[in-house]
Parts: sequence; C-alpha cells; structure tokens
Amino acid sequence: MFLSKLDIFQVRNLEAVQLLCHPQANIIYGANGSGKTSCLESIYLLGRGRSFRHRDLRVVVNNQADELVVSARLTRDSSGSSHQLGIKRTSKGQFEARVDGKSLQSAVQLVSELPLQLIDAHSFMLLEGGPLQRRQFLDWGVFHVEHGYTELWRRFQKTLKQRNQLLRHGRMDEALLRTWTAELTPLCEQITQFRQAYLAELREPINRAVGAFDGLGEVSFDYYCGWDDSRPLDEVYEQDKTRDIATKTTNHGAHRADIRIKVDGQPAADHLSRGQIKLLVYALKLAQASHYREKSGESCLFLLDDLPAELDYQHRGQVIAYLNELGCQYFITGVDKQDFECLLEKMPHKMFHMEHGVASIDETTGIESL
Ligand SMILES: Nc1ncnc2c1ncn2[C@@H]1O[C@H](COP(=O)(O)OP(=O)(O)OP(=O)(O)O)[C@@H](O)[C@H]1O
Ligand SMILES: [Mg+2]
Repeated sequence: MFLSKLDIFQVRNLEAVQLLCHPQANIIYGANGSGKTSCLESIYLLGRGRSFRHRDLRVVVNNQADELVVSARLTRDSSGSSHQLGIKRTSKGQFEARVDGKSLQSAVQLVSELPLQLIDAHSFMLLEGGPLQRRQFLDWGVFHVEHGYTELWRRFQKTLKQRNQLLRHGRMDEALLRTWTAELTPLCEQITQFRQAYLAELREPINRAVGAFDGLGEVSFDYYCGWDDSRPLDEVYEQDKTRDIATKTTNHGAHRADIRIKVDGQPAADHLSRGQIKLLVYALKLAQASHYREKSGESCLFLLDDLPAELDYQHRGQVIAYLNELGCQYFITGVDKQDFECLLEKMPHKMFHMEHGVASIDETTGIESL
C-alpha cells in the first residue's frame, strides 16, 4: 500500500502543499520550523483522524484558515486498486472522512484503510513509558489482523466505564456491581486471548528484526494480562471487591495489561542506552509491519520524524534496508540533505525540500523513479 499523490491544505504552516510521492522512499528535508513534521502530521491525520502532536485539532489548523483538508491517492499492493482518501476538519469543529467520495462513519474505518506506523522523538516511551503505550502497540497489531477486535474493544471499554461509574457512586448497589462484573469478565478474557495469540505470532518477526540491527542482544517478552492469572478472573474480582469499592475503580482486567520486554534477561528500559532503546522501538514496529504483511499481503506506511537525530549512520542504513525489504513506503524527515545522500545513493527515491511551508522536489538528487 502506498500513497502516490498527497495534497495538504492549511495544516499548520502548510497552506497548500502537493507531494507526488515515491512508492517507497520519500525524504523531506529543510530548516527548523519549515514544516517537515507538519507533513508527517498531515499523513497521520489522514490515517488516524487525529494528530500525534496535539489532541485539539484547532491548534493544527493554520492560524489564518478556518479548516484543514488532507487528501491522497492510495494504491493497494494486493489488488492494485486505487482509492481516494480525504479528511477535513471544518470551522465548526466537525471531522469528516471520505473514501472514494463516500463519508465514513468513524475514524476507525480510516485506520483500517491506511495502516501506518510513526516513529518520532517520543517513541522511546514505548519502552520507558507506562503500560498504556505497550497496550496500544499490541492493540494496533490485533486491530489490523483481527476484524472482530474493534467491536470487542468497544464493548469492553463501555462495560469498564459503566463498572467504574458505579464504583464512583456513594452507595454501592452490589447486585448491579455483580452484573457489570459478569459482563466485563469474558470481555477481558477474550481481549487477553487475542493479545496473547498476536504476541506469540510476533515473536518470530521480532527476532528477525532485532537480528537485522547490530548490538541489540537477545530480546524476550512476557505478557501480563492485567490480573493474577493463576486464579480465574471472576474469583479475582470477587476477592478484591472491597479494594475496588475503596479505590472507586476496577483494579484488574485487560486495561491493566502490560508487556514486559527484556534484553539478555534484563528489563530493556534499564539495560539499554537511549539510542539502543530507539533502535529496539524501530525493530518492534518493523516486526509488526512484517507480520501485517504476512497476514494481509499489504505493506504499512512509515513516518520517521528526524531519523538522523535519532540513530547513528550505520543504524539508519539498517532501518532503511529493512523498510525496503518489507516493501514499505516511508516518509523520513531531517534537517540536512547530506544526511541522506550517502544512505540513498544508489536507491530510487524522491527528495523534497521544505522551505517556509512550501515543498519543492529536489531535482539535484538525480535518482528519481516514477
Ligand atoms: N496553527 C498553525 N498555523 C500556522 N503555523 C503554525 C501553526 N502551528 C505551528 N505552526 C508553525 O509551523 C511551522 C512548522 O512546524 P514543524 O514542526 O512542521 O517544523 P519542522 O520543519 O518539523 O521543524 P523542526 O526541524 O524544528 O522539527 C513552525 O514554524 C510552527 O511555528
Ligand atoms: Mg520537526
């Protein structure tokens, strides 16, 4: 899957930018504040319906404009079919998404149209941050390979919310608590089964990706399901009911899950340098892309913000080689053009120069295909 023509209107300082993209390697370089990350943010908006930098899309719309629009032509690897994707955030705060002119009901449909992976300066949080990041990592994978997962996830969130609302109430209705607990338990168990099965399948692609990068050691991981799984979950809820009531929240369940990632038997976040942590994050995300391709026949799109600032020269080369092997389209940003010239020397690619919100194709790079 790749984008061929990308149009961006009024996203931050990008008033009107068109990129005729390369099906694989796209480099966007330019000075600080020129609009490189905003380009990636635009693609992310198209694929996720939200920004990775700000919750409030008002901040993302150009200061002088009322609305933003991003659209792109997308071609699938498996069928060769082409589709037009578009999103718009209107002046009234409404969000509209379209595929081939038809309105989508929710942003979830966008996510399945355009599977994308972002790696930026905050991505080390996947290992160093809280469990939420790791659950999101897992859920990205399960969502893209298991079609029923979205509905299951929605029911789980709704039931959990209702149980928590009840726990926050002053006077406890024990019968109602039993009802919500009985509904929540199988949902937690099903989510756990999906996640565990996905993680088991990811083991091999992770080992392969880790093996492609020098100096990472042996990576292993365990899934913690969110409760003491030596006991059935309904029993855990019953025994810990008083604590849930006292703390006014559900202390056990799929929303408390985590993956414990180790390198050479030590917790990865304690054992690795910051650069190695970033590299492991690349390996984990590339492994997901590899697994997704095996399952669906489609490649993912990668957005790599400021790759030169994140990794040394040798590892940058290894990441690019792996992306090429997986047939992924990628958009990489960086300040200096020279950082990419040697890396991409013999490889077809497109390079865009970003200046004050205006992108121009860099003809001097010579090698360009399509
Ligand atoms: N809503 C907005 N309207 C107009 N301009 C904005 C808006 N929000 C941010 N900007 C500006 O957009 C510019 C582009 O920001 P962006 O983060 O894309 O730059 P960048 O090229 O990635 O820079 P860096 O190399 O520092 O990461 C910045 O100068 C910023 O001040
Ligand atoms: Mg930037």
